Amino acid sequence: MTAQDRPTLDPRTAYDVISAEKYADWDPLLDTFDRLREETPLVWVEDPEHRHPPFWLVSRYEDAMRISKDNATFLNNPQTVVFSLTEGIEFAKSVTGGSPHLVASLVTFDAPIHMKYRKLTQEWFMPKNLRTLEHDIRELADKTVDRLIKAGPQADFCKLVSQPYPLHVVMQILGVPEEDEPRMLLLTQQMFGGQDEELNQSGMKDLPPEAITQLVAGAVKDFEAYFAKLTAEKRANPTDDVASTIANARIDGEPLNDRDMMGYYIIVAAAGHDTTSASTAGAMLALAQDPEQWARVREDRSLLPGIVEEAIRWTSPVQHFMRTAAEDTEIAGQKIAKGDWVMINYVAANHDPAQFDEPRKFDAGRSPNRHLAFGAGAHQCLGLHLARLEMKILFEVLLDRIETVELAGEPKRAKSTFVGGLKTLPLRVGVA
Ligand code: HEM
Repeated sequence: MTAQDRPTLDPRTAYDVISAEKYADWDPLLDTFDRLREETPLVWVEDPEHRHPPFWLVSRYEDAMRISKDNATFLNNPQTVVFSLTEGIEFAKSVTGGSPHLVASLVTFDAPIHMKYRKLTQEWFMPKNLRTLEHDIRELADKTVDRLIKAGPQADFCKLVSQPYPLHVVMQILGVPEEDEPRMLLLTQQMFGGQDEELNQSGMKDLPPEAITQLVAGAVKDFEAYFAKLTAEKRANPTDDVASTIANARIDGEPLNDRDMMGYYIIVAAAGHDTTSASTAGAMLALAQDPEQWARVREDRSLLPGIVEEAIRWTSPVQHFMRTAAEDTEIAGQKIAKGDWVMINYVAANHDPAQFDEPRKFDAGRSPNRHLAFGAGAHQCLGLHLARLEMKILFEVLLDRIETVELAGEPKRAKSTFVGGLKTLPLRVGVA
């Protein structure tokens, strides 16, 4: 395809849709997506500074859904699954011997191997099995809310509740002892909070991109070392957690190789907490801004599932994933060439007015609410039932124990194009 055939984004708007800092303030970003959906729902994005490979940005819900479900035409594996610097991709290839992915995991596999890996833990993440965890999760929620109440009437909800709680849950299901959790938190923040200097806690602010990539690779190595030890333990003494399932799994009669096994632990550990944190904090922000709604749901808990679902749409914590066209194809009348890189932008899709009335409004009664925040198709979030359950239980405890909640300062979003959400949410709470 020639360059003339491609509707291409002007350099200023290209900068707006690929810069981490622009994802720290959604309103102008959503204005841009609204315009793109109207004018060029599929648009070619070239980084004005040539630091990233070019790609198609998809901003309509309908197109994002179609691409997500067509796993034969739109592959995960060939280029990185998240939007990356060219240097980062080259660095990953040099470390892995050719793969653009530092970590091999469910999100980087395609058929037929993807389903074989996914099946290993799919049952484990189903509601029937998760019910057996409810008691333990409720205990964690109780302890977390204890800490919030103890901190006094004013506290940062992110630091005390929405960040640590999903991390505890995910570490518990992986069988990681509590004393190792701070290390896991730091490692996942280095891997996924890399674009926000306050979140990665490693002074990355002034580092050049290559150095950041190397730091991320270092975090992956540390993770691998940690989980190698855990695997040995889970093989010697299997328990009923996810880590035991992975450590003792077999595919076509063979145990998983080290890289794939580590990738499995890492995807569960990493995918499971920042995402749920962001939706939890978003739900709390929406409720703090609407005290009457807090009072209403305290009285009528049947409203809670709607609040949880709307929070997940409204926050869309996974802001994008990438796909690569396996063959020449067409979406929304636009030709896409074999090998082209495509961004499914969940923020844009979940704010498409053709699918959601008043998409920027938090509407707990939204029905239907067929959002794309968990993706769709073969890669749809493996942990979606767990995420919903965790949030539901935490809010049950919060609603039982907190009578009033209001904002006590300016909430702040993380600077990140991938997993993003609130990193600070100052609240004043009144205990019931
Ligand atoms: C995949 C979102 C929580 C584990 C995904 C995808 C999205 C997503 C958008 C990719 C879907 C696609 O490509 O079509 C979210 C959101 C969450 C959340 C918004 C919370 C609100 C969790 C939790 C876990 C988890 C709690 C597990 C502990 C995974 C895994 C995958 C995945 C393993 C890869 C699945 C595959 O490629 O087959 N998630 N997630 N996620 N998520 Fe989640």
